[in-house]
Amino acid sequence: MESREKRVEEFLERNKQADLGGGQARIDKQHDSGKMTARERINTLLDPNTFVEIDKFVLHNCSNFGMDKKKFDGDGIVSGYGKIDGRLVFVYAYDFTICGGSLSRTNANKIVKVQRMALKMGAPIIAINDSGGARIQEGISSLAGYGDIFYQNTIASGVIPQISVIMGPCAGGACYSPALTDFIFMVKEQSHMFVTGPDVVKTVTHEEVDKEELGGAAVHASRSGVCHFVGETEEDTLMMVRELLSFLPSNNIEDPLIMPTQDNPNRIIESLDELIPEDPSKPYDIKKIIEEIADDHNFFEIHANFAQNIVVGFIRLDGKTVGIVADQPAFQAGVLDIDSSDKAARFIRFCDCFNIPIVTLEDVPGFLPGCTQEHNGIIRHGAKIVYAYVEASVPKITIITRKAYGGAYIVMSSKHTGCDINFAYPSAEIAVMGAEGAVNILYRNLSDEDKKKTIEEYEKTFSNPYRAAELGYVDEIIMPSQTRAKLIQALDMAQNKVRSTPAKKHGNIPL
Ligand code: HXC
Repeated sequence: MESREKRVEEFLERNKQADLGGGQARIDKQHDSGKMTARERINTLLDPNTFVEIDKFVLHNCSNFGMDKKKFDGDGIVSGYGKIDGRLVFVYAYDFTICGGSLSRTNANKIVKVQRMALKMGAPIIAINDSGGARIQEGISSLAGYGDIFYQNTIASGVIPQISVIMGPCAGGACYSPALTDFIFMVKEQSHMFVTGPDVVKTVTHEEVDKEELGGAAVHASRSGVCHFVGETEEDTLMMVRELLSFLPSNNIEDPLIMPTQDNPNRIIESLDELIPEDPSKPYDIKKIIEEIADDHNFFEIHANFAQNIVVGFIRLDGKTVGIVADQPAFQAGVLDIDSSDKAARFIRFCDCFNIPIVTLEDVPGFLPGCTQEHNGIIRHGAKIVYAYVEASVPKITIITRKAYGGAYIVMSSKHTGCDINFAYPSAEIAVMGAEGAVNILYRNLSDEDKKKTIEEYEKTFSNPYRAAELGYVDEIIMPSQTRAKLIQALDMAQNKVRSTPAKKHGNIPL
């Protein structure tokens, strides 16, 4: 029989060996390229000493191409659970030091195991990606593993928050697990995501492009919209994940945490009464309103560099998480287009999944005209916002700060599409279109002088919120300085909202 000492020795030795992943030389290589190891990343992300690793000694069972002689404990995935701000989360990280973090049948099973546990326990799951993709030696078995992961991603969608952090390569079909999750984080100049890499692109389309230009963080955060957040460093990125989670509930039957605040719920913000320019063609920064009204001026913006004509993100009002959707007059006059429609609709649906009330700040001149927009489907994409707002059963409050024109008026959470309280500032203009455009259509042949007079008349009629208020489409006209207090009051009123819809399997959102 083995002595107790020997068993302890083996226990310590086996763990030490497993902690080294693919070995010290590969760890050094990882560090030399400026990257943390999988375990270092997890320990940076989680509260200190809370990580519990499971499946540490799993080995693959592939023998193709000499793989029977290339076995490492854990097989390229570090997985388990721990705490963030004292709340349970599940986590897995690809270990690049083992076969380039490539996905095998066995380590896919490890991922699926924590995915299932996270779903069962009702806790968020965070995936840290740094992988060469499918383990080439395993062929179809590896592909099957990806399929199983995608399946769990989809089943868990809307039940627990799922977050992906890309910290190295993420190529081919491997991109689709992150794409099925709620939020993607990338690290500046270190993460790359693409379905086909630069070499294949060159062969097929003859385009010469490097990996940063093809699928770096900057491209995905600003042009494709695939990425929601970019960190300067790995540590910075992981801290952003922690901050995001502080706004979210652990699952779809919990409410988000209430963060106690000293910020007065009735705080009057006089500067807001001066913010909106008298000249309706002049821009202003909608983020100023968001930051002013938020508890402690804290606005956690999502998708900050993508479709900047709309702004989305989280604030807290009197300690409670609120999702903000706001037209941005400082960028392309806040016009709605394909990308801003997609950005807003996806965010609205996320808030609705996780019981987060939505506040909409509206200043929108309409949809962006032109062949590019029409031919690429602004009709199809614009419909997503309507659908997402109507479908959302969480409390919805809208404030029309200035322009609410045409279809865009209806789309941006109007009374007609189900908002619970519709506020307007005295500067609100609610009309089918701007005065000049309207007069040019109605009175094409008028002299310039008569046109000017008619424009003034149109402005007098529609460039205010009182016509809409007469019809009950605006519930209350408020001064901008009252915004914070009025929102907190309205959200408090709506917190127990119940809305029933006909039974159905699910609707058919225009995708
Ligand atoms: C097995 C792999 C691997 C893979 C890398 N390695 N990728 N092993 N399967 N997919 C191994 C290498 O052999 C090497 O092993 C170690 O990981 C580190 O790789 P290096 O090439 O030395 O590192 P680096 O120079 O940093 O380059 C990283 C890389 C490159 C850019 C990721 O390795 C690469 O291009 N890999 C292949 C990527 C790829 O085409 N994957 C398949 C995509 S298709 P040693 O023992 O020397 O340390 C796909 C389909 C998924 O994923 C479909 C899902 C539906």
